[in-house]
Amino acid sequence: MALAREITTVGVVGLGTMGAGITEVFARNGLRVVAVEADAEGVARGRGHLEHSTDRAVRRGKLNEGEQRALLERISYSTSLSDLADVDFVVEAVPERTELKAKVFAELDKVCRPDAILASNTSSLSVTEIGVHTGRPGKVVGMHFFNPAPVLKLVEVVRTVVTEPDVVEDVVALAERLGKVPVVIGDRAGFIANALLFGYLNHAVRMYETHYATREDLDAAMRLGCGYPMGPLQLLDLIGLDTAYEILDTMYHQSRNRLHAPAPLLKQMITAGLLGRKTGRGFYTYD
Ligand code: CAA
Repeated sequence: MALAREITTVGVVGLGTMGAGITEVFARNGLRVVAVEADAEGVARGRGHLEHSTDRAVRRGKLNEGEQRALLERISYSTSLSDLADVDFVVEAVPERTELKAKVFAELDKVCRPDAILASNTSSLSVTEIGVHTGRPGKVVGMHFFNPAPVLKLVEVVRTVVTEPDVVEDVVALAERLGKVPVVIGDRAGFIANALLFGYLNHAVRMYETHYATREDLDAAMRLGCGYPMGPLQLLDLIGLDTAYEILDTMYHQSRNRLHAPAPLLKQMITAGLLGRKTGRGFYTYD
């Protein structure tokens, strides 16, 4: 299939858990990445995450040291979106707040080439709403990775009613080039996987907060009884409780389905700073 554009250099905006993982996926697959964070501290955190993750790949024999070095050298870091002026494609992975994403997209629209595709890694916000803050909504698309991005194969490609068909085709081809399996879906909160997953995760938190079962027993039941790689509370710690709350809240507001009304304990834990693995403590404690 002839692609509308060749993608060799990409931008990633936001180097949290997802953005750093996505950066690694691109760089592992030979693309040059300009990775942008809001400040030097964010850049240092993102760089640390990438070094840690690729060190692990070296320890496990998946990369040799030369390949690790080459991978890391394909990434340049910046605190300014204006450094994305020459990239072919951008994926945004900043926190799940529409106004923040809208601001980033309006700025990207100003600095990026007119033919560049602007993608969002949003988990549940409206890609359509984000896209209308640009002068190129036809080139705005969702490209949703799963955590950990270097490991999980699925990419949800979200097309809005105005996304141009060749943009969807190019993002599907890009996902395949990254060794991922793309699925194409319309713009509805939660897309496919989160719409199905988060009702289950929320239910597990409710079972835990009502002392229906211990965290260990809840997690063991789903791992050992259903063959899931992680129990629901372990998975919430991986996703991050703040991210999980935002996803549930957005889906609840869109559908009014009580299944997605965030369990009160989630908010309490977030207020207390227990966000999961990234803060060292969530339902479990981490070193
Ligand atoms: N970053 C990079 N690589 C990682 C990783 C991480 N955070 N965690 C594990 N890995 C790699 C390991 O290096 C290892 O790689 P190799 O096979 O190449 O050696 C591989 O993953 C397996 O790791 P482990 O043997 O240490 O552990 P495991 O077999 O228990 O797998 C897991 C760990 C991949 C996280 C697995 O438990 C799993 O798939 N859990 C479910 C994760 C899940 O459901 N994610 C979706 C969350 S929802 C979401 O992301 C959507 C959203 O919008 C929030």
